[in-house]
Amino acid sequence: MINGLKKMFSPFSALSPHSHLLPLSGELELGRKLKTDIHSHLIPGIDDGAKTMEESIAILEAFEHLGYERVVTTPHMMQDRYDNSHKKILDGLFEVRRELEKHSCEIKLDAAAEYYIDDQFEKLLYERDILTFSDNYILFEMSCINKPLNLFDLILEMQIAGYKPILAHPERYVFMNNDRDLYYELKDSGVLFQVDMLSLTNYPSFETQRYALWLCNNGMIDFLGSDAHKIAHLDMIEKLKTTSILKSVYDKNKLLNDTL
Ligand SMILES: [Fe+2]
Repeated sequence: MINGLKKMFSPFSALSPHSHLLPLSGELELGRKLKTDIHSHLIPGIDDGAKTMEESIAILEAFEHLGYERVVTTPHMMQDRYDNSHKKILDGLFEVRRELEKHSCEIKLDAAAEYYIDDQFEKLLYERDILTFSDNYILFEMSCINKPLNLFDLILEMQIAGYKPILAHPERYVFMNNDRDLYYELKDSGVLFQVDMLSLTNYPSFETQRYALWLCNNGMIDFLGSDAHKIAHLDMIEKLKTTSILKSVYDKNKLLNDTL
């Protein structure tokens, strides 16, 4: 019990939710340092992200303003919620790239997907038909409430196939926050962690922020991602440039964004 409590609370002592938004004297480089964002929803109208082409372009311009060079956008692939296919995503990418050419924005845009663990994902995985980015990375998510029964089998299958699994927003899964060993088990099995920058700014909740800080303090963050759905998210992320949390993430974690 005591050990359990220690595990649960001690990591917060170095950086608490109350202290991390202390202002710094200067601005920290954000996009210039990260270079590539690996999680966003910018193909208009196909998921809960950007609704129009204008909104997509505005968000991409905001990424460029923050210093980013490349955005890998990752529409949801979730069979009972969004009727998406790889073709739909790639056709959408083509359209956004074409529109981007008409603007002075020089950001490089690519697309993959945020795969929800479900039957559709399993089928695509066994067919080796996955949208990846850079060095065969897959971005995946799962139920926030229940651990998928075959989670570790699927991770192994991804690795056998030569894919490198990245778990989107590990700070959001309630079942992992209740069983912190799972974070270590996933890490030991080779899964990389992508924390949402929005979580560091206490969106969508203080609870999510708390676990994002825990991951930060334990050096478990491999990638930062925007998970941008709308322009307001970029405004929130821009505020990170002047807060101490970003410095802590850089200091305590070995981020891989700039290796992509
Ligand atoms: Fe997402």
